[in-house]
Amino acid sequence: MSTILNKEEQTPFLNLRKIRDDFPILSRSVNKKPLVYADNAATTQKPQSVIDRLSEYYSDENANVHRGIHTLSECATEAFEESRRVVQRFLNAKSVREIVFTRGTTESINLVAQSYALRRLKAGEEIIISTLEHHSNIVPWQIVCQRTGAKLKIAPVNDAGELIFEEYEKLVNKKTKLVALTHISNALGTVNPVQKLTKVAKEVGAVVLIDGAQSIIHAKIDVQAIGCDFYVFSGHKALGPTGIGVLYGREDVLQSMEPWQSGGDMIKTVSFEETTYNEIPYKFEAGTPNIAGAIGLSEALNYFSQFDLERVEQHEHCLLNKAIQRALSIPNLQLVGTAKNKSSICSFVVEGVHPNDLGTLLDQQGVAIRSGHHCAMPLMSRLNVPGTARASFAFYNSPEDVDRVFDAIEKALFILAA
Ligand code: ALA
Repeated sequence: MSTILNKEEQTPFLNLRKIRDDFPILSRSVNKKPLVYADNAATTQKPQSVIDRLSEYYSDENANVHRGIHTLSECATEAFEESRRVVQRFLNAKSVREIVFTRGTTESINLVAQSYALRRLKAGEEIIISTLEHHSNIVPWQIVCQRTGAKLKIAPVNDAGELIFEEYEKLVNKKTKLVALTHISNALGTVNPVQKLTKVAKEVGAVVLIDGAQSIIHAKIDVQAIGCDFYVFSGHKALGPTGIGVLYGREDVLQSMEPWQSGGDMIKTVSFEETTYNEIPYKFEAGTPNIAGAIGLSEALNYFSQFDLERVEQHEHCLLNKAIQRALSIPNLQLVGTAKNKSSICSFVVEGVHPNDLGTLLDQQGVAIRSGHHCAMPLMSRLNVPGTARASFAFYNSPEDVDRVFDAIEKALFILAA
């Protein structure tokens, strides 16, 4: 049975009771308390339709793709390629050839780093990232710079955790060859003005990668409107399975890139003298892909597409505002990340309390949050915190969930003070 929603929870934006019934895990208990899942920035829960689709695929359609001429193989191939079309429409990519399936955001960024940047950048040229980045959008570029002699430039943030546009603008120049920025900070929820940032980089002819791991189901994604060359995200943060992700790459840029991994499916012909490569996107999909994952992801995107995104955003905004109000009423609690434009992520520290202790005490009350550095150690250093406690909400969270999170924090702080 799902959590009973009180009157307040009938938000004007979404039919939460119905939505919550679509997510079986939301009805379970943890430590004998009804679960409150507020760790959506780490991964999202899955609707029943995605769970059913995976089971249906394995029960009824499983075969390898692009290989057999038998019925099942054709059926699996059609479902896999339809998934690519679903992703294309979701991102508003121009062509289905621009959608490469990967294992996730991290692999997508590494693909671009290895296959694009490593082969093009020269000593003295520059890559720009920002202080807001997740380690997966830092380390691949550090490796490229170490190997090529290119320089990594960091666009700074202010104390609120907002990228300082003027400082970013100053960094962009003729030497800038690649800009890789997050759309939404996983640690703070800061929303970057990606269209504006991309425009500045395009003026000097730089290639732009946007890390969409946290934005994919929290903001409108239109890769043509953003104007970026690459946009990357993970299925599991978009109601889909783990182990599947997407690299959107502008067709001409993908065409110009060398393959990354090699083997079956990425080739046209192989002889011992010479190998010719397949067309995009297959050139970047060596080996048997995560077929079920791609099909599960498309089911997740189709499920999410039934909702009006503006209403989702308004609902999540209400959850964030409520979280901030509750947080501000707790003595010695300091919000970390107070950007004007924020998604539904609330990060904070409490004086004298380790975020992990808080996380453990919340778990005992059935409340799941994340604590630690959130794979964003340079950002934590900039904001002078070793880590934070982070509650991150999705469209299926209710105002009561927010109350339960902060009631649990108050109780935990009372226990710790005793
Ligand atoms: N990147 C994920 C997070 O922020 C794992 O929690």
